[in-house]
Amino acid sequence: MTPPAMVRLDARAKLNLGLAVGPRRPDGYHDLVTVFQSISLCDTLIARRAGRLSLSVVHEDAGERATRAPRSRGGAVARVPPGQANLVLRAARLARERWGLSGGAHFRLIKRIPAGAGLGGGSADAAAALSAMCRLYGVRPSRADRLAAAAELGSDVPFASFGGTAIGRGRGERLERIRLARPFRAVIAVPAWRVSTADAYRQIDQMKYGLTGWNAHLRFAQRLERKALTAAMAMQLGNVFEATLGGRRRDFLDIRRRLERAGTVAPHLTGSGSAVFGILPSRVTWSSVVGRFSGSETLFLVRSARAGVRLST
Ligand code: C5P
Repeated sequence: MTPPAMVRLDARAKLNLGLAVGPRRPDGYHDLVTVFQSISLCDTLIARRAGRLSLSVVHEDAGERATRAPRSRGGAVARVPPGQANLVLRAARLARERWGLSGGAHFRLIKRIPAGAGLGGGSADAAAALSAMCRLYGVRPSRADRLAAAAELGSDVPFASFGGTAIGRGRGERLERIRLARPFRAVIAVPAWRVSTADAYRQIDQMKYGLTGWNAHLRFAQRLERKALTAAMAMQLGNVFEATLGGRRRDFLDIRRRLERAGTVAPHLTGSGSAVFGILPSRVTWSSVVGRFSGSETLFLVRSARAGVRLST
């Protein structure tokens, strides 16, 4: 079959339903255990076969503002780099070299996932770019080969390709699929402030967070693997980065309290933040949460999703 000259892919954001971090490794990374979950919030990547590699980015505001929010605040979509540093182009270059592709592509990225918030937007874009290059050039690497390429681009990129619900180990690249007992809805609050992931890991190194806690988390994750999981069960793993927020911890606790008051359950940080998400009980409507939430954070209303990257309709 002739490969298509153009593909349009949705690249889904993720939540870390739970996240525990272990000791620093000799390579500078940290072992971790996390429950990853793809969600409906997505960027869209449109790729056309071309001689060279190029990228244009448009930002689309997919967030909701609380009814009582001050009017002055802008959207939560931090700008992403349009040039060579963008993960889309890094992924496309890697695909071209690794699989010996004869040309490039022009990418148009419609960016909706707030950047630098722990929602895996850049990783999702990278996973979509790998997939787009394979489709445009008709190559079909094995799953292991594709995941290894993804891991070269970042710790969360393998999951962004894999999608659904999975336990991640190693630095996040060793994945076990798990079954979600039932889909769920969540509300994500994204503040204007951001957290540096590298700094957050450095904070962990300074914390008195011993191996005892890490081993207990590993055992807990092992138990999760054996059953059909609900979001609430996975969230019992907690998120260790809630303890490394320093001066921002108060702001986090405040967002958490306001999300709870608005009707969501057990709000937690995703990744190293700064986004905070809470689960919506079945009887609670999105509009009631948006109506009851007080604050200037941008809200995103999402559902759990079963795929990471897929053809856009
Ligand atoms: O892999 P990625 O580029 O997403 O990681 C960003 C930074 O986060 C790394 O440079 C490293 O400092 C830290 N990191 C870590 N352990 C992990 C994942 C990330 O120390 N498992």
